[in-house]
Amino acid sequence: MGFLKSLAVVAAISSVSFAVNTISEAFDSLGLTSFASAATALNDSSEGQALLSMVLSGGNYSILAPNNDAFSDASALTSDSTLLLDTLAYHILRGSFSPSNSSSLNLTSATSPNHTIGRSMLNDSTYVTLEGNASQVVAWTIENGAITFLNQATNVSVVNSTRINGTGLAVYVLNGILSIPPSMSSVLTNSTNTTSIAGLLNSTMIPSANGTNDTIGNILDAQRGITLFAPSNSAFSAVSSTLPVLEGNLTAFTTVLQNHIINGSTLYSSEIVNGSSMTSAAGEPLTFSTNSSGTYVTSGSTTARIISTDMLCMNGVVHVIDNVFLNTDSDMSAASSAYNSATSEATKLVSETGVISATATGASGSSTSSSSSSNGSKNGAAALSASAHYTTFLAVVVSFVVIGSVLA
Ligand SMILES: *[C@@H]1O[C@H](CO)[C@@H](O)[C@H](O)[C@H]1NC(C)=O
Ligand SMILES: *[C@@H]1O[C@H](CO)[C@@H](O)[C@H](O)[C@H]1NC(C)=O
Ligand SMILES: *[C@@H]1O[C@H](CO)[C@@H](O)[C@H](O)[C@H]1NC(C)=O
Ligand SMILES: *[C@@H]1O[C@H](CO)[C@@H](O)[C@H](O)[C@H]1NC(C)=O
Ligand SMILES: *[C@@H]1O[C@H](CO)[C@@H](O)[C@H](O)[C@H]1NC(C)=O
Ligand SMILES: *[C@@H]1O[C@H](CO)[C@@H](O)[C@H](O)[C@H]1NC(C)=O
Ligand SMILES: *[C@@H]1O[C@H](CO)[C@@H](O)[C@H](O)[C@H]1NC(C)=O
Ligand SMILES: *[C@@H]1O[C@H](CO)[C@@H](O)[C@H](O)[C@H]1NC(C)=O
Ligand SMILES: *[C@@H]1O[C@H](CO)[C@@H](O)[C@H](O)[C@H]1NC(C)=O
Ligand SMILES: *[C@@H]1O[C@H](CO)[C@@H](O)[C@H](O)[C@H]1NC(C)=O
Ligand SMILES: *[C@@H]1O[C@H](CO)[C@@H](O)[C@H](O)[C@H]1NC(C)=O
Ligand SMILES: *[C@@H]1O[C@H](CO)[C@@H](O)[C@H](O)[C@H]1NC(C)=O
Repeated sequence: MGFLKSLAVVAAISSVSFAVNTISEAFDSLGLTSFASAATALNDSSEGQALLSMVLSGGNYSILAPNNDAFSDASALTSDSTLLLDTLAYHILRGSFSPSNSSSLNLTSATSPNHTIGRSMLNDSTYVTLEGNASQVVAWTIENGAITFLNQATNVSVVNSTRINGTGLAVYVLNGILSIPPSMSSVLTNSTNTTSIAGLLNSTMIPSANGTNDTIGNILDAQRGITLFAPSNSAFSAVSSTLPVLEGNLTAFTTVLQNHIINGSTLYSSEIVNGSSMTSAAGEPLTFSTNSSGTYVTSGSTTARIISTDMLCMNGVVHVIDNVFLNTDSDMSAASSAYNSATSEATKLVSETGVISATATGASGSSTSSSSSSNGSKNGAAALSASAHYTTFLAVVVSFVVIGSVLA
């Protein structure tokens, strides 16, 4: 069949040492004919061939293979060769995600509300703009006994799995096709608890780095590596009488917003360490704590509970919190040095394999679990981009009338 032939071509290119038909047979026995035939398209481009030859080069990879039913209405995907290549790349995780004991292969998985995060092979800048050119991640959890993927419009879970003997490949069969994370402003707009902040970021115009006026939403979307602690709609309602005081003061308003953001660093829930802290885009600490009732983040005198985590975005991640940090303190030199250090740490993400956590090797450095002054595994970050965006973000021009109506 076509897939076998294209593997054979790639195998020849990359001098793969194991039998190509082992792979083809494994796909057949799992009933993955649609996935296998979609994968033949990889042979059509040099990017696709590069992806295949990397995956077949003997390292450990975990292939998340949608079953035939999942492909039954995927014509929009299979007719767009770039989207198909990128979607397939998003279904290949770097590293081994199962216990080494071969008798019980399954995807390593935390139990809800905890999540497991793995880095995929998707790094086309059309679809992913994380810090350090890092590839996009996939997030999943065990919920009601099933391994289920987050951020999907419909339920996608693992329904079967196999190891391909003689290779570093493990195949996990999914009952759906994973969608690639969209922009942060789309994520906020599309999630029920974050429409207030989506509207606020969408309707607030500030000068962008190139001198044109743009929405904060667009400016945030253009940054690499953003972690946003997004107050929920009810959190905004609760401060609707306090916030207007800020509305007359552009500096204070901007600082408040920056205190909800880590710039230059995408911090997933699995990397949040009890007692650690990161530096916000205003240069202030965001301090984390966990107890039996949940995970909390503190800025200034306000503590918020994180009510949902790991909403994956093209350029970062959103965690929803139940409070607004009305913190107008800032420390621009701390912000700047945190951003620089996040940017230099981010180069390590390219070689990250396996489960992403605070202590994972290949992640950015060491983490300490309970020292109040330490950072987590990642360094906090600063202003919205090194200097240009930062200056313009401070020179904020806010449409307060619009904000008032969004928050009302
Ligand atoms: C794969 O691409 C090569 C050219 O790069 C071509 O010679 C070969 O026939 C293709 N294989 C399949 C199965 O389409
Ligand atoms: C699971 O995969 C095995 C091959 O590894 C296959 O024999 C079996 O039929 C599959 N089960 C289902 C439900 O598809
Ligand atoms: C692949 O994973 C196994 C354990 O699952 C490990 O022993 C081996 O060293 C890994 N291979 C590579 C190339 O990382
Ligand atoms: C989630 O992770 C935290 C911190 O590691 C742990 O204390 C908690 O027991 C975990 N919860 C579940 C349901 O596994
Ligand atoms: C993997 O684990 C999930 C959740 O426990 C279970 O539903 C599924 O059947 C398991 N799959 C395999 C192949 O063991
Ligand atoms: C793969 O190897 C395991 C033992 O390591 C064996 O139990 C299994 O049958 C083999 N699978 C195939 C498809 O050859
Ligand atoms: C947002 O939600 C709408 C309606 O549910 C859907 O059509 C659209 O595809 C979603 N957009 C993204 C980027 O997920
Ligand atoms: C919205 O927030 C509530 C708590 O305020 C939470 O229970 C629910 O899971 C959230 N929904 C989403 C989609 O995040
Ligand atoms: C934000 O803007 C995007 C397009 O830029 C739009 O699709 C979305 O509906 C807007 N969201 C809100 C809440 O206005
Ligand atoms: C940006 O908006 C401000 C305030 O409305 C306005 O004064 C300025 O001329 C605008 N700049 C551009 C380049 O449109
Ligand atoms: C200016 O930058 C913004 C991003 O903030 C972008 O949306 C806009 O298209 C750019 N305009 C020009 C003329 O380059
Ligand atoms: C605006 O807010 C900043 C930061 O809180 C404060 O230092 C400044 O005094 C305020 N300006 C006015 C005019 O209230």
